[in-house]
Amino acid sequence: MAGPLMYVVPAFLLCHVIHLSSAAVDCSSIKNCSCVSNTIVCQHLKHLPNNIPPTVTEFIFDECPFGTLSNFPYSQAEVLAIRDSALTDVTLQNLPSLKTLDLSGNKLAPLRKDMFHGLDSVTDLILHYNGVKEVKDDTFENLPNLIKVDLAENPGIHISENAFRNHKELKHIKLGRCELDSIPIDALSKAESLTTLDLLRNPLGTIPGNTLSKLPHLQTLNLFGCSLTTIPASTFSGLKNLVSLNLAENEITEIPGSLFHDCRNTLQTLHLNGNKLKTLSGGDSEGVGWQNLHVLHLGDNPWTCDCNLQWMKALDLDRIDDENITCATPESVAGHKLHEVTEALSCSPGGGGGSSALALGIAIPIIIICLLLIAFFIYKIMQTRRQRAGKKSVRYSEVYKDTVETTPKEGAQQPLSVL
Ligand SMILES: *[C@@H]1O[C@H](CO)[C@@H](O)[C@H](O)[C@H]1NC(C)=O
Ligand SMILES: *[C@@H]1O[C@H](CO)[C@@H](O)[C@H](O)[C@H]1NC(C)=O
Repeated sequence: MAGPLMYVVPAFLLCHVIHLSSAAVDCSSIKNCSCVSNTIVCQHLKHLPNNIPPTVTEFIFDECPFGTLSNFPYSQAEVLAIRDSALTDVTLQNLPSLKTLDLSGNKLAPLRKDMFHGLDSVTDLILHYNGVKEVKDDTFENLPNLIKVDLAENPGIHISENAFRNHKELKHIKLGRCELDSIPIDALSKAESLTTLDLLRNPLGTIPGNTLSKLPHLQTLNLFGCSLTTIPASTFSGLKNLVSLNLAENEITEIPGSLFHDCRNTLQTLHLNGNKLKTLSGGDSEGVGWQNLHVLHLGDNPWTCDCNLQWMKALDLDRIDDENITCATPESVAGHKLHEVTEALSCSPGGGGGSSALALGIAIPIIIICLLLIAFFIYKIMQTRRQRAGKKSVRYSEVYKDTVETTPKEGAQQPLSVL
């Protein structure tokens, strides 16, 4: 009799726990699902259950191989997530309360406008990782109230110029890891309220001037890991509302002094860590420095710790990642953390690394020119000598001819030996 009890007791306890956590809603009869408050969370379901209580308004399905979904019968839904479920097609219609639609991690490409029908209330659309290659002008036509769109991890995605034309409320767009080699600015600039743009890990390389100025309301811009090498001084011009800028993990070697001029009054968070910066100016020509920033990350750069970085050492240490700011040069402090360097940072007379590189840049061509001149003179001298020698040999042969004509044949070898 102990056998069955061993199973009955834990099962009873489990049911009891589910009852407690589910509070008002009872989902105990639905396999692979649990309910908490007005949310149902299901995993590994093959079919959509038809007995979900009507008080449930948030539906989360993870790794549920429904295949396709042509109708979602729970019209009270406010949140619907069908994630990582290999869905190949959906037709959602008449979900007037739906605010959040998360279809990430499926195979919903190509997108069609009739996938989303009568979804006027949807503000958050998540289509992360679906193999989407194209967003057409009309793809989001039936989703007029979008505020957030996540299209990240759809490599090679092309966004048509008018895809966001009617989306006046659209504020947040995620396009991270989409293998974009340029910012789809024509499409993005149609979203007139855009405040957040996430371009994480796209191989942009450079951002042509006047690109970002078409997004004047931008507050948060993520350019982490975008293979940026040079940043023209005009890159962020016109961004007078920029609050947070992430430029970490790029290959930036230089920050122009006026780069942050237009956002100097608004910028609070700046990530420059993980670049190839050797030095950084303490402020722009108007004396606007870094003091207003709440967060400043400068670590993991090959800093030259000379007098030009004295300001950095003096910054308020709470908001700067000083643990990670390490000196690469000069040799006396190489490998030391900047904030641990106790001696005053000086600049050697005759300038730092920059001017010695300049000196080398001038010296090397001069040395090459001198060597070429010397080689040329040697060649000229050799040539003149050879010409003289040639004239001599002519004279000798004339002499020789004379001698041959005037002397007996045995003497013929003599002039040759002179040569
Ligand atoms: C519940 O999940 C298991 C795998 O975890 C699966 O084999 C089973 O078919 C699922 N049940 C239903 C009703 O889909
Ligand atoms: C310092 O660098 C380490 C390793 O890259 C990182 O995990 C940590 O978050 C950094 N600290 C700060 C304050 O950024």
